[in-house]
Amino acid sequence: MHKIIAANWKMYKNRMEAATTAAEISAGLPGVLPEGREVVVFPPATAIECVAQAFRGQKALTVGAQNFYPAPEGAFTGEVSVDMLRDVGAEWVLAGHSERRHIFGESDEMVARKAVFALSHGMKTMLCIGETLEEREQGHLYVVLERQLTAFFSSKPDAMADEALTGRFVIAYEPVWAIGTGRVAGPGEVREAHGVTRALLEKFMGETGKKLPVLYGGSVKPDNAGALIALDNVDGLLVGGASLEAQSFLQIIGA
Ligand code: PGA
Repeated sequence: MHKIIAANWKMYKNRMEAATTAAEISAGLPGVLPEGREVVVFPPATAIECVAQAFRGQKALTVGAQNFYPAPEGAFTGEVSVDMLRDVGAEWVLAGHSERRHIFGESDEMVARKAVFALSHGMKTMLCIGETLEEREQGHLYVVLERQLTAFFSSKPDAMADEALTGRFVIAYEPVWAIGTGRVAGPGEVREAHGVTRALLEKFMGETGKKLPVLYGGSVKPDNAGALIALDNVDGLLVGGASLEAQSFLQIIGA
């Protein structure tokens, strides 16, 4: 399957820093990018436009937004719409990142609403799912992933055909305990969670569920990226800390 390597820059980098790193990624890409791999960078909202500019002319490089509010426009102080993000060059959005769920209290329902809204307004969408350490230790991996995916599939309107999601909808499995902790999930844990995610996608979508990329995220670094991406059902990586430096991210892209 086509693989996707994504960078989540979180709340790091002003425009100058973002433009510099984006230009370095763009310049280094031809030497490292394997066939059939695409790269998406999620900068902070203020830097989307300059990253999109730095990526211009590079088909494999696209830009996304980390957050948005699911309404066309309106009295939503402090929020940004998908059309506004598209206007500055975003082609993708993230929904359900664990920091949105756990720091900002976004519920499964809110995350689902955001993902459905973005998809129905022409944005490619990366939906993040994943269990906390406590949930994993209690043996609740399946239940949590099922609950998070059910929220999406039960709010997806019938008019949004499963087949129409191919190429536009991606799942990122990110165990909460592996995000920013340096504690990467082991190959067995990743294989298990990706197997569960794949089985759930097939349960909800039938054959189409086999075609959606499932990315892994959580403490991905240049020295573990190659082994992770080689695992069954791992169709790409979502990288936080190690994507902030172009050289480190380029190594992951080429892993
Ligand atoms: P990390 O973050 O790579 O720094 O663990 C991953 C993420 O938050 O998507």
